[in-house]
Amino acid sequence: MVEDPKAFEALLQEDRVFPPPGDFAAKAHAKDDSLYRMAEEDPDGFWAGMAENLDWFTPWTQVLDWKPPYAKWFVDGKLNVSYNCLDRHLKTWRRNKAAIIWEGEPGDSRTITYDQLSREVNQFANVLKGQGVKKGDRVTIYLGMVPELPIAMLACARIGAPHSVVFGGFSPESLRQRIDDAEAKVVITADGGWRRGGMVPLKKNTDEAIEGSGVETVIVVRRMGDRMPVDMKAGRDLWWHDLMKGASAACEPEPMDSEDLLYLLYTSGTTGKPKGIMHTTGGYLTGVAATTKYVFDLKDEDVFWCTADIGWVTGHSYIVYGPLANGGTSLMYEGAPDFPERDRFWSIIEKYRVNTLYTAPTAIRSFMRWGGEWPARHDMSSLRLLGTVGEPINPEAWMWYYEHIGGKRTPIVDTWWQTETGHILITPLPGAVATKPGSATRPFPGIKAEVVNERGEPVGAGQGGYLVLTRPWPGMLRGIWGDPERYQGTYWNRFPGIYFTGDGAKRDKDGYIWLLGRVDDVVNVAGHRIGTMEVESALVDHRSVAEAAVIGKNHEVKGQAISAFVTVKEGVVQDDKLIAELREHVARKIGALARPDDIFFAAELPKTRSGKIMRRLLRDVAEGRALGDTTTLADPNVVAKLKSQYEEKEA
Ligand code: WTA
Repeated sequence: MVEDPKAFEALLQEDRVFPPPGDFAAKAHAKDDSLYRMAEEDPDGFWAGMAENLDWFTPWTQVLDWKPPYAKWFVDGKLNVSYNCLDRHLKTWRRNKAAIIWEGEPGDSRTITYDQLSREVNQFANVLKGQGVKKGDRVTIYLGMVPELPIAMLACARIGAPHSVVFGGFSPESLRQRIDDAEAKVVITADGGWRRGGMVPLKKNTDEAIEGSGVETVIVVRRMGDRMPVDMKAGRDLWWHDLMKGASAACEPEPMDSEDLLYLLYTSGTTGKPKGIMHTTGGYLTGVAATTKYVFDLKDEDVFWCTADIGWVTGHSYIVYGPLANGGTSLMYEGAPDFPERDRFWSIIEKYRVNTLYTAPTAIRSFMRWGGEWPARHDMSSLRLLGTVGEPINPEAWMWYYEHIGGKRTPIVDTWWQTETGHILITPLPGAVATKPGSATRPFPGIKAEVVNERGEPVGAGQGGYLVLTRPWPGMLRGIWGDPERYQGTYWNRFPGIYFTGDGAKRDKDGYIWLLGRVDDVVNVAGHRIGTMEVESALVDHRSVAEAAVIGKNHEVKGQAISAFVTVKEGVVQDDKLIAELREHVARKIGALARPDDIFFAAELPKTRSGKIMRRLLRDVAEGRALGDTTTLADPNVVAKLKSQYEEKEA
């Protein structure tokens, strides 16, 4: 499972240890092991304590009802997420505190206080009601990183309409698939969105996506204005600002059952079809609020910046719900890190005196490549904590982050979790746990993780295995929308009653966990999950392609890059023009994030006797390793030939 033995060896030899800095620990929410001990003695009691930090309309009668694979948390409790993120802060001094500080890519900005945010959320909740949206109706949101995005999410939460946010970089076809699966009747989008100085045609994409679908209403945010005229279809398309004009700023929050659906978020799996991950209300909010407070040591005076796009789970949990549930100040940036220059992040940190930065290893590796002179131009002394998420961080990148961004002062929290887990599960608590570059350290209090072998037995120190979670946790997914069998099959069949993460890991002699990447057919490109099957389906959809096999190939900056092996139909010319065409075809079908880095024409693909393509061997070929076990192949010559052809081409 560990694909690159060299990298694995290097990790085993990483022995640098960084204890929490004394001044940080002295003021931290968690300064010692006491939360771990409390949670170990009484996990349910620990989570109940965390849930008590929220405002409940009706108290729960039971903390956890666990009938694997279905958990109910805070049974019979009633609450509303938008009430917890807004209303309860309005009764305190936080009323006029910045909830969201937003910076647009062109340099425009907005500071939105809790009071202002609450008014806009209430207004938009009334707008949705006016369009006939009721509790339980799914609403698809396809927006760039503009304030209307969290406003729309919170408005949905207020009236009990689950949202399904679709990343603005997805193609019309990907959007269509997600709208159809959720059976959304209302879509919220914008005329366009800024990205690296260019305009993303969100409305045009939406029009293409919903042609002939069941969507009845499209609400359009005006971001581009005259720069990007859009067609507004009478009777279907409405401007956000027109609707908001007449809307009342008072909308009662819907009392939601703890287990009512809060949102769907689609993520890639091992088949071609994305999974609609289901997150519910009480447990999810408890988990994101607790982890935001303790992992990021969030203080009232902090400016907290998570650089993810809200189209991914990291943005849901750590731009919107976690920080706002805690009454924090969340910074939101619309655009690219290198626009107009490669120091945009550092200039934002200086401008807003950002205290905590939470970003992805792939971004850090880009910054490394761009060089330390960019951050050096800015005063970043406000930073007191750094975080990473999305993929394993190599110790080199960790050290660069520590030195050049954190000024060797700030702890780093390497946080492991998934769309499915809802919130961070493996991470240091920065005031209590010594860190090691490249390790996510230990499970958050109340979380139980193991590294096991094929038979489900815990492996010894230093050995690789599968990462599993042996105890339910509040923010865990409650299912896959419309597909209970897939839920059972993907996560719970390998080891009954135990959650299978799909990640490989090892534990070192101190019990620290080191993540080693996916063990299934999911590729992690620049922190984005893409199923190899999705890309393969897009490729074979092209008229010239007979068969395709897609793998993630190690990549210096992106972690993994998509590499495709393609066989073409009779008579097709295999040239660079076709390669370019195929790359564009995939980008058009799925979105630019899935565009293969390289495509290799193969005469044949290596298959098992039962016809399964052996991607493991293709990775060996692409990464220039000796071929692994080929005994299950129908014809071992196929891969041997492929390897020599590939090496010829590379040379
Ligand atoms: C990977 C993102 C190593 C992992 C929150 C997981 C990580 C997948 C880390 C989930 C980390 C996430 N170290 N690997 N700190 N964090 N991953 O659903 O493979 O977009 O299964 O959620 O990202 O990606 P997802």
